Amino acid sequence: MGPARLVAGAALLALGARALAKTPPPSPQLLERGKIVYEGATAGCSACHGLTGEGNGPVAFAIKPPPRNFKTEPFKAGDRVEQIFTTITLGLPNTRMVGYPQLPEADRWALAYYVRSFRPAK
Ligand code: HEC
Repeated sequence: MGPARLVAGAALLALGARALAKTPPPSPQLLERGKIVYEGATAGCSACHGLTGEGNGPVAFAIKPPPRNFKTEPFKAGDRVEQIFTTITLGLPNTRMVGYPQLPEADRWALAYYVRSFRPAK
């Protein structure tokens, strides 16, 4: 590939990275992806948070402080999509909620929207 193409490719990559760094708009595809990652074995969110998001996953009973009931309890770290994204990325100090920076950024946004969807409409 020629130098002009390389430059164009690099510019596109940079654009792609910038686009992901800001909140993607909500979409059914994002929610669908979020559900798959949330319930999947790699991230394992539902093991603690439960399939219904009520903090009733199979290992939740063993955890102190216990996982949040996403439907009814206020969020310590905020429940805006950006705040949930940050919690998923960095975790919450001194709890069993570790950060998941290893998940692709797009999946963390998908998870943030999916977790947000458990909240009652405001
Ligand atoms: C090992 C159990 C465990 C796993 C796995 C886990 N969490 Fe958590 N999570 C917790 C606990 C415990 C808390 C509450 C900590 C506290 O009380 O501050 C929490 C808190 C949270 C919060 C913050 C709620 C608030 O109050 O601000 C979010 C959002 C969240 N988890 C999302 C996720 C997502 C998404 C995944 C999967 C990528 C996940 N968690 C995986 C145990 C877990």
